[in-house]
This record gives sequence, C-alpha cells and structure tokens, in this order.
Amino acid sequence: MNVAKMKLDKPVAIIGAGLVGAGWAIAFARAGLNVRVYDANPRTAEKAIPWAANQLAALHKHGLIDEAPETIAARLTLADSLAQAIDGAAYVQESVLERVDVKRQLMLDLDKVADADVIIGSSSSGIKASDFACDLAISPRVLIAHPVNPPYLVPVVELVPSTQTSQATVEFTDALMRGIGQSVVHVRKEIEGFVLNRLQAALLREAWALQRDGIASCEDIDKTVRDGLGWRWSFMGPFETIDLNAPGGVADYANRLGPLYHSIVKSRVDDGPWDEALIAQVEKDRRQHLSADDLAARRDWRDERLMQFAAQRAQEDGER
Ligand SMILES: NC(=O)c1ccc[n+]([C@@H]2O[C@H](COP(=O)([O-])OP(=O)(O)OC[C@H]3O[C@@H](n4cnc5c(N)ncnc54)[C@H](O)[C@@H]3O)[C@@H](O)[C@H]2O)c1
Repeated sequence: MNVAKMKLDKPVAIIGAGLVGAGWAIAFARAGLNVRVYDANPRTAEKAIPWAANQLAALHKHGLIDEAPETIAARLTLADSLAQAIDGAAYVQESVLERVDVKRQLMLDLDKVADADVIIGSSSSGIKASDFACDLAISPRVLIAHPVNPPYLVPVVELVPSTQTSQATVEFTDALMRGIGQSVVHVRKEIEGFVLNRLQAALLREAWALQRDGIASCEDIDKTVRDGLGWRWSFMGPFETIDLNAPGGVADYANRLGPLYHSIVKSRVDDGPWDEALIAQVEKDRRQHLSADDLAARRDWRDERLMQFAAQRAQEDGER
C-alpha cells in the first residue's frame, strides 16, 4: 500500500456506515489516511468504529497489518453531520442505500457543502452515476467506485465515470485506490450493474433457474461453485480459464464448445423476475443449511476465511 506517494494530508469521508461504508473505513485507515465516518442513523454510526476496531484486531492476528490495530483505529473519527464529515476532505466514499432517490438527494446535499476540489466515489452496486450525479457543480468530480463486500478483504474496485466525470477525477481515484491496495478495474462505458454484478447476474440467473426447475438443490449448486468453478476463479478469470482448457487455447475452446454455450444461452432468453414462490423455495432450502439466527456468525466465519485466504495470497505474491 503506498498512498504516501500521493502526499494526501487531507482526510477521507465515509458517508453511510453500514456494511460497506464501515468496511471502506478500514481500507482507508489501514493505508494511513484519517477517516471521518458519518451515517444518517446515529445507532449505525456508533457501531461502525468499535466494529472496525474488532476487525483490525483480527487482521493483525492474521498478519495482514503491520501497525498496531489501535494506531489504525485512532485514525477513525465519527462525524455528527454531512458537512462536518466532508469539511476539508480530499475524497468522499458514498455508501448509502442502493436507491436512485437516496443517492440523488445525497448528491444535492453534497453539492451545497462540498469543497470545490473534493472527489466523490459512489459504492453503487449497479446504478449508473449518470442516473443520480449529473448537472451539478460536483458532477465532474463524481464517479462510481464499486467495491466487493468487505472492501478491506476483497481488493477489486470498479471505476465507472458518468457522462460528466472528468478524466482528472478518474485518474485521482485510480491513484488513490491503488495507493490503498485495491485492484482497479476501469469500466469504459456506463452500463447497469457494471462488470462485476453483470457477471454475477449471469451466474445467479442460471442458479435460480436450475433450482426452480428441480435440476439440483441449492446446496448442490453452491457445491458446484465452491468445490468446482470457484477453485480456479480464486486466481484466474473466465477467459484465462478457457484459454487453458483446450489444447490449442481459447480459439480452440470456442470452436469445440461454442455451440454448446450458445445453445444454453438461447434456452434462457428471459426467465422473468425471481417471484415470491421461488424466493420462498430457495429461502426454505438455505434455512435447512443455515438458520436465520446463525447468519451473523456465518458472516464472521466468512470474513475469517477471507483473512486466511488474504494472508496466503500475500505470502504467495511475496514469493513470486
Ligand atoms: N452489501 C454489499 O455486498 C455491497 C457490495 C458492494 C456495494 N454495495 C453498495 O454499497 C452501498 C451501501 O450498501 P450497504 O450494503 O452498506 O447498505 P447498508 O444498508 O448496510 O448501509 C447503508 C447505510 O446508509 C445510511 N444512509 C442512508 N441514507 C443516508 C444519508 N443520506 N446520509 C448518510 N447515511 C445514510 C443508512 O443509515 C445505512 O446505515 C449501496 O449502494 C450498495 O449497493 C453493497
């Protein structure tokens, strides 16, 4: 992590300190930046910093941070208002609800109080910045910076400019994200869902349909990814995967299996929305494997596994 190169002596502001915002706070503070945290719900805001302190202790246990967890946690401060949070900030990471009206209102509020040079990244999972961040004084300085949850453990971040985002904003955010150790993907044209969630949508569409049609249980579909596809995907993407899966590489693979994939795709032109009955079926299946009361503990277990994985990856990258 080398945010020092950017000589960023101003703080970063997190607006919306739920699951993703609180995770972003760790990612920035861990890189040496002072972070102000604001949430419209004071109860959520109060929980964010103690939660981050716990996560930092766990990161330290796994050797994923060099500094003492308390030193990093001391860089996090709670702000009482939006204006206080962003006062003098170099960068704002917006992480409020995934709703156009909520994000638009926040942009209007930011437009009133933001300094003339602050850059604003939105954690939006799929709503385009052009749908909520245009025609304001801040518009050239707003872009999507979409993370994966939790952002301090899964490094990828998608940068997606709106039609009004300046090139300087993209360049600053690229440098900032690389500086704090994220892995930057540039999405060249705005599209709903960007790249990550469009890929996830394709897989989920098939998973829900296979379950609906009684082809396999949720558990067996999960197992197919967990014990199959996911093994390679943890270190290579779909194009590299198929490049290695035919003797002559990707073109050979496309010639051999292209017709099969085309036939599968044609069979799923539009499956319609996930309806109530289907959701109830999947909910029932999942709850047999994990009770609702155990969801939070399982999230902690997932984060613990991700930390072990991150530590292993860091060691392997160091050995390369
Ligand atoms: N959860 C994920 O897996 C995930 C992953 C990547 C991106 N995202 C995106 O990140 C954003 C936040 O998602 P989340 O999962 O953290 O949701 P969340 O519900 O956990 O947190 C949202 C927080 O925003 C606060 N909030 C709402 N309006 C606000 C305002 N005007 N000012 C300040 N705070 C406000 C709420 O009180 C809440 O605490 C969404 O755009 C979401 O799509 C989520």
